[in-house]
Amino acid sequence: MTDNVTLSTEQQAQPQFAEGDRIAERAAKVFVGTAGSPGRTSAMLGRPLYLQKADGAYLYDVDGNRYIDYHSSSGATFLGYNHPRVKRAMLEAVEMGYFCNYETEAHAEIAELICDSVPSAERVRFSNTGTEATLAAIRLARAVTGRSKVLKFEGHFHGMHELAWYNSRKPATEPNEHGEIELAADTAGIPAEFDSTVVVTRFNDPESFLACMRRHKGEFACIIMEPIMYNAGCIYTDPEFAAMVREQATADGAVLIYDEVLSGFRMGLGGGQEHLGITPDLTTLAKALGGCGLPIAAVVGKREIMEGLNPIGKTVVSGTYTGHVMHVYGALEALKIMREPGFYERMGALAQRLYDGLREVLSGTGTPAVVQGLGARFGIHFGIEAGPLYHYRDVARGFDSAFNAVFAREALKRGLYLHEYGSSLTPNHHGFTAAHTERDIDETLDRTESALRAAQCASSG
Ligand SMILES: Cc1ncc(COP(=O)(O)O)c(C=O)c1O
Repeated sequence: MTDNVTLSTEQQAQPQFAEGDRIAERAAKVFVGTAGSPGRTSAMLGRPLYLQKADGAYLYDVDGNRYIDYHSSSGATFLGYNHPRVKRAMLEAVEMGYFCNYETEAHAEIAELICDSVPSAERVRFSNTGTEATLAAIRLARAVTGRSKVLKFEGHFHGMHELAWYNSRKPATEPNEHGEIELAADTAGIPAEFDSTVVVTRFNDPESFLACMRRHKGEFACIIMEPIMYNAGCIYTDPEFAAMVREQATADGAVLIYDEVLSGFRMGLGGGQEHLGITPDLTTLAKALGGCGLPIAAVVGKREIMEGLNPIGKTVVSGTYTGHVMHVYGALEALKIMREPGFYERMGALAQRLYDGLREVLSGTGTPAVVQGLGARFGIHFGIEAGPLYHYRDVARGFDSAFNAVFAREALKRGLYLHEYGSSLTPNHHGFTAAHTERDIDETLDRTESALRAAQCASSG
């Protein structure tokens, strides 16, 4: 397939994958699995999608197949691939000598723009990834409060470290009389000693949350949450619940951390906190901050808390590669693009067109599913008849993961890339970018309809 050839959905249902399979065989001899990072393995292919190039809203694999992309590098490519302005800015940094562990005026400029965009941001500290940013935020919260416990919510994901990687992808369970969910680490290798530092409760469930706060009064260093549960398929946040969490954190003296690694800049410059109208104490940012998939992240927050960081405070958070010049230059240009008038209006209009269109196609094909979307990211909750969905337990119990897998495979054959990790309890989050056009969305809806019909045949046969 080439750029300028539009193939019918029937033709697209016969793509070739031989070259990618050949690379997978080679890779399997040197990686554990077929990828340098296993999250890249597509459940539909049983291996990563090996790319030849990426441009705008499209991925081009080594077999010559072109896909309209709805993965966008797990949400990191917010402006689309190969954005000419971001690319130029990065090339400028390359020309400067491509250094790290030094600073430029651009570092101060991007920090100014972040403070101007994100309500909670008065000071900025860079990280490379979301995982590092949440780790740093929790460490800082512990240092400034002198407490050790972390309160997190079932179904929320905060990166792959020992401090909070619990119950993000586990079956929903009933809380005990103190509102606590039985702790379940999301990976092997977390020492049991860490268990005493984490408490998990239900999201959007005031009773469980309040019981937990009563039980652990004065013990929490922080309450960490995704302001929208994108990681569980875009489960919405009850604004009253969010207000209660804010109030309780303040009353208890716990630091409220909004993990906006995925939600930051996604539905507006101020991200989830602006959407909810709530200002947390600390915020973690990554993904869309890098505009086009650049590894740049940050902890931002209120000055008096951020000044707990070195060199003013005693909490050390630093790194050789943080605020890498190339990523700062690229991200600065990306942020300037996001701040241009009309940017979010256009994204909002595309979101409406896509989500309304998907709902129409699902209902027209008689497929039970709920589409939940906010800003540029969404989830398709196959098997669930009615939304809106506010509870992890409802999604984890109702989601038809088997049908989802068949649909994703049929979509792939038709040139739509929706990344899937394999059978999961909740839908994966999908998303579009600023490079997607109305035409891409309309083409997507046609291909989705065809993929749904094929998936229904495959599932019933
Ligand atoms: C809300 C949230 N926090 C943290 C992370 C971890 O970020 P990273 O993969 O950059 O380490 C992710 C990644 O998906 C995320 O969605």
